[in-house]
Amino acid sequence: MWTKNNIPDLSGKIAIVTGSNTGIGFETAKALYEAGAHVTIAARDFQKGKDAIKKIQSETAGVETLDYGMLDLANIGLIREFADHFMQKHTKLDMLINNAGVMVPPAAKTDDGFEMQFGVNFMGHFALTGYLLPLVKQTANARVVTLSSGAATLVDSIDFDNLRLEKNYDEWREYAVSKLADILFSYELDRRFKNARISAISVAAHPGVTRTDLQRNIPGENLEGMVAAFDQVMEPWQGALPSLFAATDPSVEGGKFYGPDGPKEYAGYPALSGHHTAAMNDEALAKRLWEYAENAIQLTYKF
Ligand SMILES: NC(=O)c1ccc[n+]([C@@H]2O[C@H](COP(=O)([O-])OP(=O)(O)OC[C@H]3O[C@@H](n4cnc5c(N)ncnc54)[C@H](OP(=O)(O)O)[C@@H]3O)[C@@H](O)[C@H]2O)c1
Repeated sequence: MWTKNNIPDLSGKIAIVTGSNTGIGFETAKALYEAGAHVTIAARDFQKGKDAIKKIQSETAGVETLDYGMLDLANIGLIREFADHFMQKHTKLDMLINNAGVMVPPAAKTDDGFEMQFGVNFMGHFALTGYLLPLVKQTANARVVTLSSGAATLVDSIDFDNLRLEKNYDEWREYAVSKLADILFSYELDRRFKNARISAISVAAHPGVTRTDLQRNIPGENLEGMVAAFDQVMEPWQGALPSLFAATDPSVEGGKFYGPDGPKEYAGYPALSGHHTAAMNDEALAKRLWEYAENAIQLTYKF
């Protein structure tokens, strides 16, 4: 039963957690800070970010710095600004936790024209990781942890002609596509680290079923029905454990997927995930997605 008490001493480590003003990201940032890391709360709302910092400081006895960084993953230009600013202040990045996410919002597009879920959950983190790559490369044994979901198993392909909502919108399909994209990205990034003989690893994690603000777009009665359908719903501290395990445990391997160990991986303690589909392991699809993303935002990863 791996818990946050198993996190090794993180003194001297530098971490970014996206979307850490609330939910799983908040608990992830808090536990990393408690273990001694310097943590940047990357959030799109200044006040929410500052409130999260105050809350963590009042609940823990961390000794390192908790920083706020303005990060809106729905705007590629602002992501670049966040990364540039971070790189002016830091010479390394030990843990990048690509956590932020949005689920089943009404149809909308990011500032750069991507369908909102694909744009925030995948494209935003693809851009962020690419812009921060120089720091990741120059850090010994850095880790990039990307949050996916069991929902990634619900689709078996990506319609590259609908990523800017050119056709129709199905909120659950688009969420699943974004989470499939996250896992394809995580695995492909790890292959590219290995090919370039970079010591960093890329790891995917999912938090099972955790009660957070993620469900904000689901009407109350539907939500109660959904919750009742799951045997167990975790609280955010427990939902954060797979991310924390992926980010810190010495046994973790790059290119792997970690989640809760209970039935259907809805709840439990961190373990290797049994979620595998042909699409998740499709290397040709991962390469195609990578090329799509690089071209779409004119960002070439330099390994
Ligand atoms: N909860 C679950 O059961 C579950 C299951 C599977 C996977 N996940 C994944 O776990 C991750 C964390 O989700 P959560 O459950 O903790 O949800 P949450 O409580 O809603 O937290 C999501 C975070 O993402 C941020 N965010 C949303 N849009 C953003 C944007 N455009 N730019 C920057 N930040 C943005 C939110 O900021 P605001 O507060 O400002 O909106 C919030 O901080 C997500 O990737 C989610 O897909 C969760």
